[in-house]
Amino acid sequence: MTDLVVEFSTADGVVRAVDGLTYSVDAGRTLAIVGESGSGKSVSSLAVMGLLQSPPARIAGGSIRFNGTELLTMSRKQHRAYCGEHIGMVFQDALAALNPVYTVGWQLTEALRARHGFSRRQARTRAIELLDMVKVPAARQRVSEYPHQFSGGMRQRVMIAMALAMDPEVLIADEPTTALDVTVQAQIMTLLAEIQAERQMGLILITHDLGVVATVADQVTVMYAGRAVEQAPVLEAYGSPAHPYTKALLQSIPRLDRKGGELEVIPGRPPDLLAVPAGCPFHPRCERAEDVCRTGAPPPVVELPGGRSAACHFAQEVMTDA
Ligand SMILES: Nc1ncnc2c1ncn2[C@@H]1O[C@H](COP(=O)(O)OP(=O)(O)OP(=O)(O)O)[C@@H](O)[C@H]1O
Ligand code: SF4
Ligand SMILES: [Mg+2]
Repeated sequence: MTDLVVEFSTADGVVRAVDGLTYSVDAGRTLAIVGESGSGKSVSSLAVMGLLQSPPARIAGGSIRFNGTELLTMSRKQHRAYCGEHIGMVFQDALAALNPVYTVGWQLTEALRARHGFSRRQARTRAIELLDMVKVPAARQRVSEYPHQFSGGMRQRVMIAMALAMDPEVLIADEPTTALDVTVQAQIMTLLAEIQAERQMGLILITHDLGVVATVADQVTVMYAGRAVEQAPVLEAYGSPAHPYTKALLQSIPRLDRKGGELEVIPGRPPDLLAVPAGCPFHPRCERAEDVCRTGAPPPVVELPGGRSAACHFAQEVMTDA
């Protein structure tokens, strides 16, 4: 994805939800996209999948390519069909994404038959294999149950199985664990990481939680107000964040070794996209802000050693004094 811009027309004006976003993921690698609520994580992935409702959404610029094929010049129908073959997505809300009136098995077998032309019997066998793969216990029995009979964690596993049924080369998982308790979250993340490694898929993991990212991702893109403010290999970003926002996010991770300590939350709120502050969009919340941050255009993206980049006037300094 290069310089993607997505706008929404609303009663109050045009909202630029994604503002010049560039990222890529290679086969067999995991890219984590992190950032607070409203930073454009979901909108950018819906754009990849061709799932934005237009209007109100409009892709105002940029390019989304998969193995060199441009997706944004395709018709909606071609785009969706292309994604069906190459790119899968696991949505935030599994209950809403599954159809309540059909059994889990029926939904899986229909997907398998449509994608691979399997017979009913072949599809059922494969459905059970997939449920086994995502570690749904007693898959053979549970395949005949309805979504509401599954717990939240199990439904998320079913969603992953549905996505895998399509044999995607890249899987986008949009906060696949937010509604789940911490232990189940960790299990789902581990499962995704295992499947990703086994299939050599590209995985794009969207999450609020930088704690989760540390263990499963190779690369991280930190988003703020529709932009990537920092992009780096995970270990480098964690060891020496180059953007004050990344630094603040990292400080807000609950740490077991800081017992009784207050969780540091980032003061202030994400900006109203109808009135993004001038200069650096993060300046009202940034402890390092200086005059140059408060006016003019947003800070340009600075390329840093090690294939890293950050959009901050003081990226170099922030990185070294971390
Ligand atoms: N249908 C819509 N109409 C108008 N604005 C929208 C619409 N959908 C999204 N937006 C805007 O796009 C911004 C980005 O939304 P997005 O869903 O991508 O956030 P997110 O980073 O995924 O947040 P979260 O972590 O809460 O899922 C929102 O702040 C919102 O203002
Ligand atoms: S450009 Fe200025 S306000 Fe923005 S993150 Fe960097 S130091 Fe903070
Ligand atoms: Mg979202």
